[in-house]
Amino acid sequence: MSSISIIGSGNMARAIGTLALEGGNTVEVMARNPDKAAALARALGNGATTGAWRATPTGDIVIIAVLFAGAVPVVSQYGEALADKIVVDITNPFNADASGLAVPHDTSVAQMIAEAAPSTTRVVKAFNTLFSHVLAAGDPVDVFMAGDDTRAKASVSAFITTLGLRPRDAGDLSMAHWLEGAGLLEVGLARNGLGFGISFGVNGAGTE
Ligand SMILES: NC(=O)c1ccc[n+]([C@@H]2O[C@H](COP(=O)([O-])OP(=O)(O)OC[C@H]3O[C@@H](n4cnc5c(N)ncnc54)[C@H](OP(=O)(O)O)[C@@H]3O)[C@@H](O)[C@H]2O)c1
Repeated sequence: MSSISIIGSGNMARAIGTLALEGGNTVEVMARNPDKAAALARALGNGATTGAWRATPTGDIVIIAVLFAGAVPVVSQYGEALADKIVVDITNPFNADASGLAVPHDTSVAQMIAEAAPSTTRVVKAFNTLFSHVLAAGDPVDVFMAGDDTRAKASVSAFITTLGLRPRDAGDLSMAHWLEGAGLLEVGLARNGLGFGISFGVNGAGTE
């Protein structure tokens, strides 16, 4: 089981926090608005705690569950408090009408977080291809992830497995750009007939 800190108190924080606690992990909620952090921790129950904004997270795995434009600034504000942590970036950097990405073509929010974070922070992109209500439904869906540190990805994979979900390693952190593009593709499919109950998954895993 893992110790998790979630930065953010919105829909994704609630969905991941709920599954994390059900899976036997510990959860700390941190939000820029302490009342919202406390309200989410109370709603999650099961021993969920709150942490002060910008304090060192108690969790070994820190999930950045804020809107994409806030992700790098938040990581910068936490600074050394994120040293030695595994930071999971779940953001989708969509432009205003979700017709494209709001990051340059040669990078991703996850890579920008890695540049902003302390050198001992290991960044993993994950969860961005799952809508919060799909997560909340609790079906055993695939969770795509990307990161440069094999041990960090193993830790995140173990955490994902406790949620009853399937970790799917897409490669190193440069693949985060394509996972962010996959989030965009998913919204396009959802808007153009399939609806927002969809999730991406792989077929034929483990076969030649
Ligand atoms: N919702 C989904 O289905 C979904 C799916 C995949 C990925 N994501 C990604 O997950 C992230 C969270 O989405 P969500 O649906 O949970 O959003 P949400 O319900 O709107 O919650 C956003 C959270 O981010 C915080 N926040 C926003 N800007 C911030 C900043 N500059 N500094 C600090 N905190 C900030 C908000 O704090 P305040 O309450 O104080 O404003 C709130 O706690 C987003 O990056 C989104 O792209 C969402």
